[in-house]
Parts: sequence; structure tokens; C-alpha cells
Amino acid sequence: VAADPLAEALARIVGPADCLTDPDLTAGYRTDWTGRFTGPARCVVRPGTTDEVAAVMALCAAAGQAVVPQGGNTGLVGGGVPRGGEVVLSLSRLVELEAVDPVGGTVVAGAGVTLAALQAHALAAGWDVGIDFASRDSATVGGLVATNAGGTRVLRHGDVRAQIRGVEAVTAAGVVVDRMTRLPKDSTGYDLPGLLVGSEGTLAVVTRVVWRLVPPAPERVTALFGLASYDDALTVLGEVRTAHAVLGAAETFGRAELELVRRHAGLAPPLRADHPRYVLLECEGRGAVEALARVLDGYPLVAETAVAVDAAGRAALWAYRERITECINAEGVPVKLDVAVPPTSLGRFEERVPEVVAGMAPNVRVLSFGHLAEGNLHVNLLDATEAEAEAVEGAVLTLVAGFGGSISAEHGVGIAKRRWLHLTRNPEDIAVMRAIKDALDPHGLLNPGVLLAPAADG
Ligand code: MLT
Ligand code: ZN
Repeated sequence: VAADPLAEALARIVGPADCLTDPDLTAGYRTDWTGRFTGPARCVVRPGTTDEVAAVMALCAAAGQAVVPQGGNTGLVGGGVPRGGEVVLSLSRLVELEAVDPVGGTVVAGAGVTLAALQAHALAAGWDVGIDFASRDSATVGGLVATNAGGTRVLRHGDVRAQIRGVEAVTAAGVVVDRMTRLPKDSTGYDLPGLLVGSEGTLAVVTRVVWRLVPPAPERVTALFGLASYDDALTVLGEVRTAHAVLGAAETFGRAELELVRRHAGLAPPLRADHPRYVLLECEGRGAVEALARVLDGYPLVAETAVAVDAAGRAALWAYRERITECINAEGVPVKLDVAVPPTSLGRFEERVPEVVAGMAPNVRVLSFGHLAEGNLHVNLLDATEAEAEAVEGAVLTLVAGFGGSISAEHGVGIAKRRWLHLTRNPEDIAVMRAIKDALDPHGLLNPGVLLAPAADG
């Protein structure tokens, strides 16, 4: 096979061991975590410094070569894998972690640092990270920033955008933009960090960030409730919130998801009886146990509760929620919808989804679970043909829009949901996004086709 001159030039920048062309070696970078999105790559390049990222981008820009930035490849919307011969730019070697700044409560982290490594680093310095989710061991800072990731602690600490104070990024032309501000107050001009968070690798390649840390919770109590319905779940959540107990998480799943996770993960039943709805609540702060008990002791809506305060017991309860994703994948390649509706609409939304799906694709199985407090439901479809998937996606997302919801609450738009952007963003809004894209990436080389259609397609 004739050598690729671009790959050879990239290898001279990053070293031959970090420019991969062999299909066996690039395989893990070309297919996404769900197995639904896959494509050929021209090569995979893994720079070890910001300057190498800049040199890679400059070379690709000169060659008119499209680039797909990639973090831990745990994305669920096809936004981090190639579609047709792009260069995959893996940021996995940018693992720099500076000492925690105890006065500012921040830490500088490279794009390739995993969420778990960031958490361990923060905890060792007496701080914590305001973001958490199940793929913490693989998901990286760069990917979290690119998707404005959410997870299970958003109700307490906000999304990734709320954690990021400064960024360093490389433009499509290969220019390093340094906005590594550590200042909590800085009203000087456009909010570049805010713009790059959630830009899904379409505006610039994030190489480093200033991450704002949070105080660790001195105590945590995790409780799993069995309930009759979504409406009861929301009533319980409202009760806890009104009592001003410090809520760290409020997650939910149903009977079918519990059955799946028990079957695949071999877990014992968490409660004595079966319930239509489960809610996992976590309260934190001093007196968390008493606070939760005060609110819910003898509360009539709660049919059954399991409570844990020690790490092992809490992890055992979290497993019922956190392992749902991998257990769905064990059943087949899912179509994943990541929507949000106003929490008070969850009950009606949850009723309508199976009706909509059954009307279009009777054999398709629906599993849904997610983040109760934000109304962020992960609607997963199994056994759908591509045609069914498209029809059902459109119908469910139209339903979401009708509820005043979001078609992408935390996973990003990626390739998967681009065609549905118009459901929740009007033409003027999309035109502004397009103008921003064109200003930063005039030749459309950064992650083409993600979020917005490639320019040539209109
Ligand atoms: C979760 O909340 O578990 C994640 O967003 C992953 C998923 O949606 O499967
Ligand atoms: Zn989620």
C-alpha cells in the first residue's frame, strides 16, 4: 500500500507511534461507544502537546483535510468518530494536571484527563468535581467540554459550562487561543469559554481548561424508593426540595430498566416488591441522613425504601442506575435519545412515548431512565431498523418540542440529531450559529456534519 504523504507529515509532528494508519490499530477510534456510528479514518493522530495540536491543525488546514476531534470516545451521538476519511485527532495524551489552586478553588487540566482522574486529583487536595457520571473512567475533560456534559450532579452544581472558567483552544487554522482566565470576575468581552463548551468540536479544539472545583460533601446518604408513578416521584422530590435538604442527585428508572439491569448485571432485587417507578435520591452535607429521614419518614407515597450511607452500600444502590447503559448495549445497538421536558410533564411524556412508538414500530422496545430533577430522560430504542429509527426519532422529538423540551439535554447533537435541530431552534437562531461556525472555521474542516449540516449542503 502506498504511504499517505499527509499521514507521514503528521507522524513527523507527533512521532510515528502516535500517528496510526493500520485499520486494526485505528478500529477503536472509528466506532462510537454505542456501535451505531462508524466510519473510515484517513489516520488517527495523537499529539502530546498544545503546540503539536496546533501544528497538526495547521497542516490539515493547508491540505484542506477535515478533522474529527476525539476524547475518550464515550460519546453517544456520533460526534467523535469519523464519517468518511477524516483525520481523527485524539486528545488522549494531553493529560497534564496542575496542582489545585486552594485560594481560587480551580485546577488546570488537559483535554485528555479522564473525569475519574480529575475527581481523584481534586479529592486528594480536599476538593471535589461538580460533575459525575458512569463513564467517568474513560470520558475526558475535552469531551465533557465539547458536549457540555451533564450527568447526575447537575441539580447541585450545574452543567459543565458552569464549571469552566478558562480554556485554551486551537483554531481550525492552527492558531492557539489562550483564554486561561482564573478570575471569578471577568467581564471583558465575549465569553469564549462559554461558547466553546457545547460546541462539539466544530469551532476549535479545546486543549486545556481552568476547571472550577466544589467542596466535597462531608456526608452523603443514598436512598432508593419504590413508587407508583412519575407524579408521585415528583411529589417526593418537591417535598425534599421544599425542606431544603441539600440534594446531590435525583435519578429515576422504571420496572423494565430494573429488570434489564438485574438480568445482565446479576444484581439482587433492591427492594422486596416490584414498583412501577424507582427514584434514587442522594442528600449531602452535614446532617444529610437526618434531613432525608425528617422529610420522608412514614411519608405515604413511598412504598418502600433502601438507604445507604457507607461507600459500598451507596455504590450498590447506584449500580441499579449507573449500569443501565451498558446493560442496554448488551441487548443490542440502541438508538439513544437524550431529551428533556419540564419535569412536571414527565408523567404525560412517559405515557405518550410508548404510544407513539407502538403506532409506528410495534416491535421496537423502549427503555427510559434518567435525571428526574432536570426532566432529562434517556429514551433508548432497541430492535429498530434504520427506517423505523428515523421515523420514531422524528415523532418522539416532535413530541418533546411540543412539551417545550430539549432534543439534546446533555449528550450533544452530533450526527444523530442534526436533522432535528429545527424542532427546538428557530431559523434565526440556526443562522447565528452558522455565522459563528463560518467565522471560526471558514473552510468547514472541524468536525463537518456535526451539529450543523456541512456548508455545501446548505
Ligand atoms: C446516563 O445518564 O446514564 C448517561 O447519559 C448515559 C446514557 O444515556 O445511556
Ligand atoms: Zn444521562
